[in-house]
Amino acid sequence: MRFLVTAGPTREPIDPVRYISNRSSGKMGYAIAHAALAAGHEVVLISGPVHIDPPHAAKLICVSTSDEMFYAVDQHVCECDVFVMCAAVADYKPAKVSATKIKKRAANFSLELVRTRDILASLSTQDRKFLVVGFAAETNDVEKNASRKLQDKNLDIVVANDVSAVDAGMEADENEVTILFRDGEKKRILRASKKIVARELVKILTNAREKCLTKKT
Ligand code: CTP
Repeated sequence: MRFLVTAGPTREPIDPVRYISNRSSGKMGYAIAHAALAAGHEVVLISGPVHIDPPHAAKLICVSTSDEMFYAVDQHVCECDVFVMCAAVADYKPAKVSATKIKKRAANFSLELVRTRDILASLSTQDRKFLVVGFAAETNDVEKNASRKLQDKNLDIVVANDVSAVDAGMEADENEVTILFRDGEKKRILRASKKIVARELVKILTNAREKCLTKKT
């Protein structure tokens, strides 16, 4: 199968030296890319700026802003069988990017932010031939919020990720997730290294994709 995986944060520039971003390390997305390759799949990895070595066997596409990530996904998504949107895309970007460094002044300063494009929500639902998997990073009402994202973004699967703990989830080496399916089925992957969680997740996604194919024939 062909996996398309996004990973890491995006950076939304304010001026030549500053940007808005988030704490995503890219570890979970990179672990999924590694696990998919180890299971014999082809992998295209679209990555925001991170500090980890990419898997050699993946086709790596490096991006920085949410717009760049949007275009990279748009170009590659139709050629995949499983699309895993693990990246932490910024929800807002500055309305204007200053061409020169913004100088400090005596008065307070506020920045106007506008919404970025929602990459998952912008995917067409017509004749979709690939499985769409989103991640939901939540600090509260984890399953309820994740389930809403599954509906609102027309996902096949959402991986609910509690990011409130310090030692699991964002930036950490371990994770534990709940996987919600469109038909209401639920699977849990208990706390383990991101490598092990990724291996389990790839198995679940591969089975889910195979099931959809069987249904269609
Ligand atoms: N996502 C996306 N495009 C965006 C923002 C998020 O495709 N502009 C994707 C993420 O990659 C993830 C899913 O949507 O797979 C949910 O992201 P998350 O940050 O949990 O939620 P948001 O939709 O941004 O909503 P909120 O921040 O209010 O929780």
